[in-house]
Parts: sequence; structure tokens; C-alpha cells
Amino acid sequence: MRKIGVLTSGGDASGMNPCIRGVVRAATQEELEVVGIRRGYAGLIEQDIQPMDASSVSGIICQGGTILKTARSDYFMQQEGQRKAVDNIRKMGIDALVVIGGDGSFKGAKMLDEVWGVPTVGIPATIDNDIWGTDFTIGFMSAVNTALEAIDKIRDTATSHNRLFLIEVMGRTSGFIALWAGVAGGAEDIVIPEIPTNLDSICAKLEEGRRRGKTSSIMVVAEGDEAGNAFEIASKIEQTIHYEVRVAVLGHMQRGGAPGVWDRILGMKLGKGAVDVICEGKRNVMVGLVNGKIKVSPIEDSWKRKKEIDLELYRLNQIMAT
Ligand code: F6P
Repeated sequence: MRKIGVLTSGGDASGMNPCIRGVVRAATQEELEVVGIRRGYAGLIEQDIQPMDASSVSGIICQGGTILKTARSDYFMQQEGQRKAVDNIRKMGIDALVVIGGDGSFKGAKMLDEVWGVPTVGIPATIDNDIWGTDFTIGFMSAVNTALEAIDKIRDTATSHNRLFLIEVMGRTSGFIALWAGVAGGAEDIVIPEIPTNLDSICAKLEEGRRRGKTSSIMVVAEGDEAGNAFEIASKIEQTIHYEVRVAVLGHMQRGGAPGVWDRILGMKLGKGAVDVICEGKRNVMVGLVNGKIKVSPIEDSWKRKKEIDLELYRLNQIMAT
């Protein structure tokens, strides 16, 4: 093992830079050469690369986004794209590849390893936190804090105007961000895909709150809920109860901003963990953090097994939101 490549792929997540720092500095300690590949698998196909050493990651610990940039490449999903990527890996003399990203990126990593014989190690990074094999993905906690800041601000205006606000957060098909930000923000209701949404009982609860003197309310809605997006849910609620309703969609702001303490430390831990795993000769795996300890699991488990939402947290909110 002499040279490793590192890339970030899929949606960016705050903490990817501390993770790149972790990979590069740990690899340098092990006297491994490091090549950074820009724009994920697209950059691998086009050989868009930069040599990296310990000083090339100076000052990035506090930066959001990813200095290596990221992309989703359809071409890489085709055999021809993969062949080009693998040719470049061989040309560059890369002995193993570290893939920082979510499940889509890991599917690519598994293919590179099993079909083309390139040793790969995945590091889970997505704001969605929907990856099995790690308690938290890089970027999740920073995104939750960003959403929380927005919720707190919206609560001020909701209170001033006696309004119901529906705040839509990201999460593709999972409700981790909505649940955590909703509980921490004191939301009256949290709507997530993991729990069937009953709009009648939500309306009844809102009415009951008004009877008790509540003048404003916050609902946090995960973008992937089966009842629809926040605008659709809002219009259904408006037809049933007499509340002045407004919608705020937080969108991509949740992906940006400086990584918080947790994502910086998690990023560096997993970055170093990936280098350790490569040095031990393991491949086709993902490194995660479970109960504070590095856990190595087959990369395909990350999407084949389902990471369950914390139902106790959901119940806690039902008790708190009275
Ligand atoms: O996968 C992360 C995520 O942030 C999802 O929560 C969201 O649905 C998606 O990316 C949006 O990604 P993009 O706009 O970059 O395609």
C-alpha cells in the first residue's frame, strides 16, 4: 500500500472538509501518498486530480462544503464510465480509494471493489443520517443546528402574528433531521415518513391547542412525507381549521455553513479510521461510529439494512408538545 485516493461524492455535507483533513493527515503519518479527486466519480473519469499533503488541508477544518467539490455522475453508473475511471486509477497508481458520501456513492464504491478489483473504503457523509452502520453521518448534526436556528427565528414571527408555520426540512426519504430539529425546537408536531401521517388528528390537536389558549404553532415537516410537501399539507390543514398558515422551506441552506464541533470531530475520527482500515488490509467496507467507537461493516449493509428512527424521541415530543 503506497498511494490512496480520496473523493467526496453526492450531496455535500458540512464536515466533509475536516474528514478530508483526517484522511490526508492520517495517511501522511503512515507515509502514504494521497491524491485528491475533484468532483467525485466524474473527476475520476476525467482524471481531475490534485496531489495532497499535510499542508494542503491547512485551514479547511472550519469550512463548510468540500474543497474537493462533489457531483452525482450518471456516466459512472455505465460500464464505459467505470472502465475509464478504473483505467485512471491504474494510471495514477492508486492502491485504494476512500469514498466520502452517502448510499449512492457507496453503491459506486462497491462496484469498483467487487467488479473492478479496486479496494475501497466508505465514510458516511450526508445530512440525511440515513446510513446503517453509524449512529451519525457527517453533516447531520450541523444541518440540524442550522434548521434549529431557523425554527427559533420563525417561532418569533409565528408568535407575533398568531400563525401556524409549517417548516419543511430536508431528508429525502427519512425523517432524522425533522425529528431532531423538531424536538429541539419545541415543535407542536413533527411529520416524518417513518410514521403514518394522520392529518385529521393533527388538525384536532391544533384546535385543542387553540382552545387551551395557544395562539401560534410550529410543525416541522420532512420533505419526503407521504402526506405531501409542506405546501400541500398546509393547504389541507387550512381547509379544515381556521388558522392563518405560512410555509417556510429551508432547502439547501441546511447543507452549508461551518461544521459544528460534532461534525469536525466525527469527520476527523472517521477519516483516520478509514486510513487505519486500509492499512489493516480491509476493503469493501464502511467505517462508522457506534456508541463512540469505530465500527467497520460491509459497505452494502449501509443501504441494505435500515437505520431506524428513534421512536422514543418522537414520543418525547408528543409529551412535551402539549
Ligand atoms: O441526500 C442529501 C439531500 O440533501 C437530501 O436531503 C435532498 O433531498 C437532496 O440531497 C437534494 O439534493 P440536490 O438538490 O443536490 O440534488
